[in-house]
Amino acid sequence: MADHKDQDWHTRLSHAGRNGPRVGGFVNPAVHRGSTVLYPTMVERTAGMKHRLDQKLLYGVMGTPTHYPLEDVIAEIEGGTRCQIVCSGLAAVTTPLLAYLKTGDHLLLPDSVYGPARNFANTLLRQMGVATTFYDPMIGGEALSALFRPNTTVLYLESPGSHTFEVQDVPALAAVAHAHGAKVLMDNTWGIHFFQPFKHGVDVSIQALTKYVVGHSDVLLGSVTTNSAEDWERVRLTSLSLGQYASPDDCWLALRGVRTMAVRLDRQEASGLTVARWFTERPEVARVLHPALPSCPGHEFWQRDFTGACSLFGIVLQPQYSQAAAGVLAENLTLFGIGASWGGYESLVLPASGFLTRTAGTGDFGGQTVRFHIGLEEPADLIADLERGLAAMREVAG
Ligand SMILES: Cc1ncc(COP(=O)(O)O)c(C=O)c1O
Repeated sequence: MADHKDQDWHTRLSHAGRNGPRVGGFVNPAVHRGSTVLYPTMVERTAGMKHRLDQKLLYGVMGTPTHYPLEDVIAEIEGGTRCQIVCSGLAAVTTPLLAYLKTGDHLLLPDSVYGPARNFANTLLRQMGVATTFYDPMIGGEALSALFRPNTTVLYLESPGSHTFEVQDVPALAAVAHAHGAKVLMDNTWGIHFFQPFKHGVDVSIQALTKYVVGHSDVLLGSVTTNSAEDWERVRLTSLSLGQYASPDDCWLALRGVRTMAVRLDRQEASGLTVARWFTERPEVARVLHPALPSCPGHEFWQRDFTGACSLFGIVLQPQYSQAAAGVLAENLTLFGIGASWGGYESLVLPASGFLTRTAGTGDFGGQTVRFHIGLEEPADLIADLERGLAAMREVAG
């Protein structure tokens, strides 16, 4: 297959994971459902089982011809070498954590981390005897270095952070971790391809494919991508030990999604910025937390390290608007669904302050935070809807 690495990412998303346009047959792979793989002889079966790290047909849980093209596309998007597909974005968070942590180890998690990742650290990892320190996502290298203990084996990053969008200084923080002999794991779901994790010191990159890759809010899927043989072996064997598996039907839908992701993201990036900029002019809004705008914590790192933005961002309401008022705003929108997740074709709103857990003293922006996901609708229609919602909110706030 030709090397597409120098081509534009629209081109690469059309061709990655395929064998080229002249191989014959249908454009897309079939959905291969299967558990048993049959071998002609015992010799071949015994030899086959030595290839658990490779894209071979060994047993359903180890992958099928529907999984492998998706693995290849995601590895290409992230600039890594190998990718493991797992059943959800959350499984993509927990699987590499289990790969690199053992009883007695210490983990560093950003205070802005996706809530269920925090929960995993506070429940199962704690039960396993792994201690976690939650750190300020905007921490500098020197202060981070002071948090390392002799048993710290993993620095976890999520940039930008869930709900509050702090963009982290990934290269500086990764360098500190490596100096302490720790691995750097990062949730790169927001960055997709706009942030190239392996060029910035990350060892293992996590994505919830559920978001823009799937793109239609109808499938849960995750990926864990590595860039060295050693990390691949660790992640792959842990995933196999855990019995991680993703349905081939879901992989097929994700592959279908990925082929149109670049054009969806072109529009969603532009629409997200249009709506975010409109919010900066609104008197009800104290601050817009969009990594591409200077009002976002860590905007300078976004400018330095990212090539674009997805369409998920937050706003901070002026202090006179309560949690209930933020709820009134959400409930009076007719084009925005109230709900978790993001990356689909439809817009979403989620007032966040009521359920955010922060324990490192970060995340208080002096007002209610509300998260928006901008879909494929016309931004002028979304803005008209938001005007109506803000008017209803002003009314209840008096
Ligand atoms: C940043 C981030 N990581 C991981 C996940 C988990 O993805 P999933 O919903 O597929 O489990 C989410 C889900 O919202 C997320 O926002």
